[in-house]
Amino acid sequence: MTVQAATESGDPALAGAGPAGPPKIRALGAERVFGRGAKAVHALGPLDLTVGEGEFVCVVGPSGCGKSTFLRIVAGLTRPTGGRVEVRAGSPNPAAMIFQDYGIYPWKTVEANVRFGLDVRGVPRGEARARARAWLERMGLAEFAHAYPRQLSGGMRQRVSIARALAVEPEILLMDEPFAALDAQLRTILQDELLAICQAERRTVLFVTHSLEEAIVLGDRVVVMSARPGRILAERVPPFPRPRSAEVRESAEFAAFRGELWALLRGEVEAENLARGGPGATPGAQSGEGSSRGAPRPGGAADQAAAPATQPAPEPAAGPAAPKGA
Ligand SMILES: Nc1ncnc2c1ncn2[C@@H]1O[C@H](COP(=O)(O)OP(=O)(O)OP(=O)(O)O)[C@@H](O)[C@H]1O
Ligand SMILES: [Mg+2]
Repeated sequence: MTVQAATESGDPALAGAGPAGPPKIRALGAERVFGRGAKAVHALGPLDLTVGEGEFVCVVGPSGCGKSTFLRIVAGLTRPTGGRVEVRAGSPNPAAMIFQDYGIYPWKTVEANVRFGLDVRGVPRGEARARARAWLERMGLAEFAHAYPRQLSGGMRQRVSIARALAVEPEILLMDEPFAALDAQLRTILQDELLAICQAERRTVLFVTHSLEEAIVLGDRVVVMSARPGRILAERVPPFPRPRSAEVRESAEFAAFRGELWALLRGEVEAENLARGGPGATPGAQSGEGSSRGAPRPGGAADQAAAPATQPAPEPAAGPAAPKGA
């Protein structure tokens, strides 16, 4: 029933994960139930998942199956009500989260937003400013350092939120549909940028998306979740070597792999749609893209906006603070 952080010195619970080394994240029968009694919602699990250090794992699944809930558990924002999630941390704040709705502060300048995570970690002002500037440069936002979020396009705001998460150099990057609101062109550009960054710096990434294409382009592994309560249905390794770029999507092999994933997911999306009184799979879903948007999403955008991406606050009702990096 705990979210636990183990130190690099070795927690026996995290040992013995095979030749790739001990896992960075391990979920063991993780479950989350919201509410009590007749109104209880079994949102997640039991879910078992292991993510190795430096691995980029993409998670796909029907709307409402508990993907965001799982990410929030890993981030220490929400507690599991059953099972456990272990995070092997080498620093006090190992994870940074990028939210679908950006989660940036409208009253702070672009630079102050990017510096935020560094400020709360006590990085000296001069160094924090230099690191924020370097990431803004990298994201093509240098000239907007003193602008406010309302002066930026949606894509630029998302870049600010990515820069803010990356600026703290997190061991683990948790990304919840970060590109969902962007147009196709910008999405491809940011996918390429993210690939380049992660391939150069080997970060551990857990990336939730509704796009099978995105999952295949980005992931070392694609994890398919069932309809709520979300469990792991299958895991597949995209047959495309790294370094990889978004161009792999042009190949016939890519289409075949996407078809395989969609075959796994389709029944779950249909089950989810039927459960909420809708038709079977939507036309968008059949392509595996944007498969099942529009379901009720408590715990989604508004909820996420309340928590700064790089300084997650455990939910008050969750009991003692998650011992991240303890
Ligand atoms: N704070 C909450 N209180 C009550 N129920 C919640 C809460 N957060 C999530 N839920 C419920 O838990 C289930 C899983 O929600 P979650 O947001 O994790 O799904 P998801 O897989 O991320 O969906 P989507 O793909 O639409 O973003 C849903 O049924 C949702 O209504
Ligand atoms: Mg979600």
